Amino acid sequence: MALKEGKEEIHVLMVTLPAQGHINPMLRLGKRLVDKGLDVTLATTQFGGHRMLKASTISTITDTFISGIRLLFFPDGFSLDYDRHTNLDHYMESLAKTGPANVSNLIQEYYHDTRKKLSCIISNPFVSWVVDAALENKIPCAMLWIQPCSLYAIYYRFYNKLNPFPTLTNPDMRIELPGLPLLHTEDLPSFVLPSNPFGSFPRLLSDMFQNMKRYKWVLANSFFELEKEAIDSMAELCPIRPIGPLVPPSLLGEDQSLYAGIELWKPDETSLEWLKNQPTASVIYVSFGSLAVLSAKLMEAIATALKNANHPFLWVVKPPELPSADGAGELPLGFEEETKNQGLIVPWSPQTKVLTHPSIACFITHCGWNSLLETFVAGVPVIAYPQWSDQPTNAKLIVDVLKVGLRLKPGPEGVISNEELEKCIKQILSWPESEEFKKNAAKWKQAAREAVACGGSSDRNIQLFVDEIVGSS
Ligand code: UDX
Repeated sequence: MALKEGKEEIHVLMVTLPAQGHINPMLRLGKRLVDKGLDVTLATTQFGGHRMLKASTISTITDTFISGIRLLFFPDGFSLDYDRHTNLDHYMESLAKTGPANVSNLIQEYYHDTRKKLSCIISNPFVSWVVDAALENKIPCAMLWIQPCSLYAIYYRFYNKLNPFPTLTNPDMRIELPGLPLLHTEDLPSFVLPSNPFGSFPRLLSDMFQNMKRYKWVLANSFFELEKEAIDSMAELCPIRPIGPLVPPSLLGEDQSLYAGIELWKPDETSLEWLKNQPTASVIYVSFGSLAVLSAKLMEAIATALKNANHPFLWVVKPPELPSADGAGELPLGFEEETKNQGLIVPWSPQTKVLTHPSIACFITHCGWNSLLETFVAGVPVIAYPQWSDQPTNAKLIVDVLKVGLRLKPGPEGVISNEELEKCIKQILSWPESEEFKKNAAKWKQAAREAVACGGSSDRNIQLFVDEIVGSS
């Protein structure tokens, strides 16, 4: 239900880091709010704006709208050629110091000066300092949790010291938490492991989870039917409202004509042409998201397994931000030429279109939460090879709880072998296991569509959120 005509406009500002896995869910939520009648602005750094220009997502940095959402950009305090990737900790720490003032300036310039009333600010977990700017300007703040609700429950308990977690003296533990499957150390998010160096991401999460009262709303990119127990387990502690899956409308069988994504790299559309020429349910799709850079050894193992699998493959190999001395992120020499009749390698794919293509048989993924939600909704089985952050727990969920795939087991040195990957590919593509995975994938696809359809559990939660913003304006 949209706002009634003639009613005062309700303005919402969303703030995110310019990372693809963070922008996508924010933009998709923004579009849902626009559809409910709100006026939405998405702000990110000027560096992000520069990336969008380079990828031809936008043609100008001023007065730009995407999917009915206005884009604004604020400085992050560094020059465009500063290497944010290698200096991530320093960058994140510095952004947390300068960010609140920059977002406050944006609020002054854009809203106060134009006499528009800002009713809500939405941030995501890795710009948790946005809440400082919101409270300073007396604007209620919501957080969009961009990972599964299960992760929210784990972090909340960990950072508030509610349950025992592995320590340096007791690193291998079985963790029993309400609403979650039994977790072993390898299933936990890397940020809670004692071996994890205390970097900027865990520091931001720790600060956020110890101060959750600052948020008026906590929304999650998930849906109730997918994570009932985890969501219910938080109801008394710090409730979270699932409003997802936040995926492009086409994946949900909805009208796509008024939706466009924000791309930080230009998707290679030739992948779709190439897919058209492959047999139905034959192609292995491989992508490790926007941040992971795989070691040379791992690249070699994947390349060998794909060659031996005797299936067509589409592999996203995103060139590293900076060339590395040890060949990380690079294809083995001669591999592309050798396999040119079997596979296609692209620097960035139109992933959501790829996943729904009938030629796709399975997805080898790092288990980023956006990729997994897109996969459920497309109904594609997965082979999980988690890297860091939430990904190990996401892999546990999809393998043991949702049962839509298999997880690769690393060898003694922590790297998977090509034999292990070949075994999993065979298992996931051959009968009878493949039938079971496909059946479960189809079940989640249906549940996801019902959750976001008009009157579904996520749609009702978004409407409640909108009504509460309107009511408190
Ligand atoms: C990050 C974290 O790494 C992840 O663990 C967390 O769950 C979300 O934030 P990222 O690693 O980029 O995200 O992975 P993911 O969550 O899968 O997001 C990647 C997005 O880029 C997806 O929406 C995917 O559709 C898109 N993508 C990826 C493309 O459009 N093309 C590609 O070739 C690859």
